[in-house]
Amino acid sequence: MKRQLILKTLFIATFTFISFQILIIPAYLERQSLYSRFFSLYSSLQIPLISLEVDLLNTSNNAGQFHHELGKRKTLTYAVLKENSSTVSLEKFKLHFETIGFKLFVTKSLNNEVKTKVTSHYFLCNIDLTVHIVVLYPRSSKSLWLGDFVLPSDLKNNCNIKNDSFTSYPGLYDRFTTVQKHKILFPSSKYNIIEASKRSHFIECNYTRAEQFYSKHPPDKSEEAVKFNRKARQIIARAKHYLDDLNIPFWLSSGTCLGWFRQCDIISYSKDVDFGINIKYYKPELISAFERGGFFLKHVFGKVTDSYELSFQAGDIKLDLFFFYDEDDYMWNGGTHHETGQKYQYIFPKFSLCWTLFLELKVQIPCPTLPYIEANYGTTWLEPVKDWRWNESPPNVRTNGVWSKLEWDDVIQIY
Ligand SMILES: *[C@@H]1O[C@H](CO)[C@@H](O)[C@H](O)[C@H]1NC(C)=O
Ligand SMILES: *[C@@H]1O[C@H](CO)[C@@H](O)[C@H](O)[C@H]1NC(C)=O
Ligand SMILES: *[C@@H]1O[C@H](CO)[C@@H](O)[C@H](O)[C@H]1NC(C)=O
Ligand SMILES: *[C@@H]1O[C@H](CO)[C@@H](O)[C@H](O)[C@H]1NC(C)=O
Repeated sequence: MKRQLILKTLFIATFTFISFQILIIPAYLERQSLYSRFFSLYSSLQIPLISLEVDLLNTSNNAGQFHHELGKRKTLTYAVLKENSSTVSLEKFKLHFETIGFKLFVTKSLNNEVKTKVTSHYFLCNIDLTVHIVVLYPRSSKSLWLGDFVLPSDLKNNCNIKNDSFTSYPGLYDRFTTVQKHKILFPSSKYNIIEASKRSHFIECNYTRAEQFYSKHPPDKSEEAVKFNRKARQIIARAKHYLDDLNIPFWLSSGTCLGWFRQCDIISYSKDVDFGINIKYYKPELISAFERGGFFLKHVFGKVTDSYELSFQAGDIKLDLFFFYDEDDYMWNGGTHHETGQKYQYIFPKFSLCWTLFLELKVQIPCPTLPYIEANYGTTWLEPVKDWRWNESPPNVRTNGVWSKLEWDDVIQIY
C-alpha cells in the first residue's frame, strides 16, 4: 500500500516534470540554458573575460536574477586583455565551447606597432547566443588598443553582431581595473567603458608618410633639436595631465598637429606647442592649475566670449591654448595683434575628435585630419616652411575687425 503510494507520487512528479519541459520551455528558455552552459564553462575554465554588460551592474543584487537578465541577451560583449589570452588557451577553450554548440570565428586587423595582423575580435556563435570578445592590447603605459573589425561573410550569417562602437572603428582606451560581481569580472565603476567606447575612435599615425617625409627631409639630429623635441614632449605630457584632471578635452593644433600628421613627431624648428580646446569646456581654474604646475602665464588675448587665447611659458618653450568656437557650418579660433588691436579669425571645416598616440601619449587630434591641416597650411603642407607668419601665412586667416581701445586692458594682457 505504502509502496504503491510512493510509486504513484513518483509517477505524477515525473509526468509533471516532463510536461513542464515540453510545454513551458520555449526558445527563450533554451537560450537561457545555453547561457547557463556558457557561464559554467566561463567559470570552470577561469577565462579572464571582462563583461561589458555594465548596464546590468545596477539592476540586481540577486545573482539568480542577474544571470537571468544576462541570459536573455542575444549578444554578450566581453573584453580580454592580450596578456590573458594566449593562443594555447584559446585552442583549449575552443574545443570546450564547440562541445556545447558554439562556433568560433576570429577576425584580425593590422597592428602598426608590430606591423603584423593580430587577433582583434573573437566571436563564439550559436543561433541563440553570440559571445563577442574584444581583445585589448597594451599600447604605451596607460592605454589599451582595440583593432578594427573586418566582417568576414561567414561570420555575418552565423552570428548576431551588434553594430556598436566596438565594431565600428579601432579604439583607444585607458587602462582600467576590474571588480567581480556575481562571479563575473567587470570594469570597475571608476571607468565607464561604454561611454568611453563612444568616443574611442583611434587613428594611427601614418608612419609610411613620415618615412617618406624624412627620406626627403632628414630629421634634424642637432643637439639643440633633440633637446627641443624632448622638452616639447614633456610639456605636452604635463599640460595633458592638468587638462585631464580638469576634464577639459583638447587636441593637437597648428604646428603640433601638422608634426603628428606629416612626420609622427614634433617639428623641431616650430619652437612652441599648440593645443586646441572647445570654448564650451573652458574653466576659470585652468590658469591657476597650469601656474601651480610651474607654467608661467605669458599672455591672454581676447575674452572668453570672443577670440580667447592663452600662452604659457615653460622654460624656453611656449604653449599656446587656442579656444575654438562653433558656428553652424564651420569652427574658428581667434587671433589678436598686440600692437594694433587687429583681430583675426582662423576658419576650419567642422571636425570631430579621434584618439591617437603621439610620442606614446594618448591625445586627441581633429578627424578627419587632412581638411584641418589643409585649411591651416594649404595643400602644400608636405613642404617644410620655416618662415611662417601667424597672421598672413595661413590660407584660412581673415581679419575680423579691431578691438576697441577701451577694451585693450582686458583683451591684450601681456605678462
Ligand atoms: C591578466 O594577466 C595579468 C598578468 O599579466 C594578471 O595580473 C591579471 O590578474 C590577469 N587578469 C585576469 C582578469 O585574470
Ligand atoms: C550605478 O549606480 C551608481 C550609484 O548608484 C551610479 O553612480 C552609476 O552611474 C550607475 N551605473 C550605471 C552603469 O548605471
Ligand atoms: C554601423 O553604424 C554606423 C553609425 O553608427 C554606420 O556608419 C555604419 O555604416 C554601420 N555599420 C553597419 C555594418 O551597419
Ligand atoms: C599614409 O600615407 C601614404 C603616403 O602619403 C598614403 O598613400 C596612404 O594612403 C596613407 N595611409 C592611410 C591609412 O591614410
